[in-house]
Amino acid sequence: MPYAQIEGWGMHVPSRIVPNESFVKMGLNTSKEWIASRTGIEERRVAARNEPTSDIAVKAAQRALRGANAHASDVDLIVVATCTPDHIMPSTASLVQNRLGARRAGALDMNAACSGFVYALAMGAGQIEAGRAQQVLVIGADELSIHLDWRDRSTCVLFGDGAGAVLLRAAAGPGIMASTMGSDGSGADLLMIPGGARLPVNGNGRGNGGRYLKMNGPQIFRWATQMMTESAEKVMAESGLKPAQVDLFIPHQANMRIIEATARKLGFPMEKVFANVQRYGNTSAASIPMALCEAAEAGALRVGDNVVLASFGAGLSWAALALRWTQEVPAAAGPWKPLRHQVEAQVAAARSAIRRRERRIRATIEERLGRQ
Ligand code: ACO
Repeated sequence: MPYAQIEGWGMHVPSRIVPNESFVKMGLNTSKEWIASRTGIEERRVAARNEPTSDIAVKAAQRALRGANAHASDVDLIVVATCTPDHIMPSTASLVQNRLGARRAGALDMNAACSGFVYALAMGAGQIEAGRAQQVLVIGADELSIHLDWRDRSTCVLFGDGAGAVLLRAAAGPGIMASTMGSDGSGADLLMIPGGARLPVNGNGRGNGGRYLKMNGPQIFRWATQMMTESAEKVMAESGLKPAQVDLFIPHQANMRIIEATARKLGFPMEKVFANVQRYGNTSAASIPMALCEAAEAGALRVGDNVVLASFGAGLSWAALALRWTQEVPAAAGPWKPLRHQVEAQVAAARSAIRRRERRIRATIEERLGRQ
């Protein structure tokens, strides 16, 4: 049975930084000290109006492909974990596939909220292990900023926008060692963006088309610590890892207090825990791949390291995964690789435009022939 290994990684965040003091300036009844001390968050990124989820997902994916020295046209499957797709349909993954020029790839979105990336990584690895794919691009990308009620201090200070991606490839050794996924829909009401295909008329979210995120923070807090601990313990047991053998723990970046409490319960000293929630807030499905990228770039990941990922989110949903890190982190790329990828992106855009025109011409011809 082949194994799945992470061979490339990349992230992208919007350039607009919103520090905690901005909420005070907006007239919200809060303080930068409250936000920092209760959540650990100091700033977050917010996407521009013309910068949809697909856009930041493409940029993260291009970096992951570049890092793995891979061609978009060799990718078999693209999974975009997101709960903030550009459209209800088509999938954001299809838009990403087109922009990358991944012409052989299947593409789908997956929504498990903040747990989405770990779910997608486990499923992408499963495709490789089953021999159905050689290369799978797994992306976590979210822009929850569009669903925030900026007058609600209990939610709007917590979230930010971003994207992270990894390229999984078939390999002879591990790789992804164990994974677990869980769901408890009895807690669906604890964290919800009610609007969707069925916009509520009189229900939750009345008056705004259900577009705003609603959350019971304290209940999520207690449950999150418990579920991340249990699911991390499960994948450690399945892959035969004792806490001392885990080199790095990367939990979902929602709140520094949740991260610390989970690490304490699992018996990990904070030196073994990676956190960047301070700079990005909760970026939902992007949080773990972004943390993974920053951990690699910071030199916190060495070949042979055992890494445990654990996430939780709306659903309620949770997931954890144990993996062995197999890649040297390269020095900054020279000028040629980015140039090659730039050319690939331009070719993909040209191919997409040609296909669109072809389709239009064929439709016109068929219409005329049909009329004769
Ligand atoms: N500024 C000032 N005061 C605030 C703010 C704020 N931004 N937000 C809430 N408060 C107030 C509350 O109104 C409350 O006031 P009250 O006592 O007068 O009622 C007080 O602070 C304490 O509120 P708590 O909710 O008890 O504060 P807590 O310590 O639990 O922190 C928080 C709140 C940060 C939301 C925390 O519960 C949390 O992080 N929960 C987890 C949320 C989470 O991770 N969600 C994402 C899930 S992933 C996904 O799928 C998207």
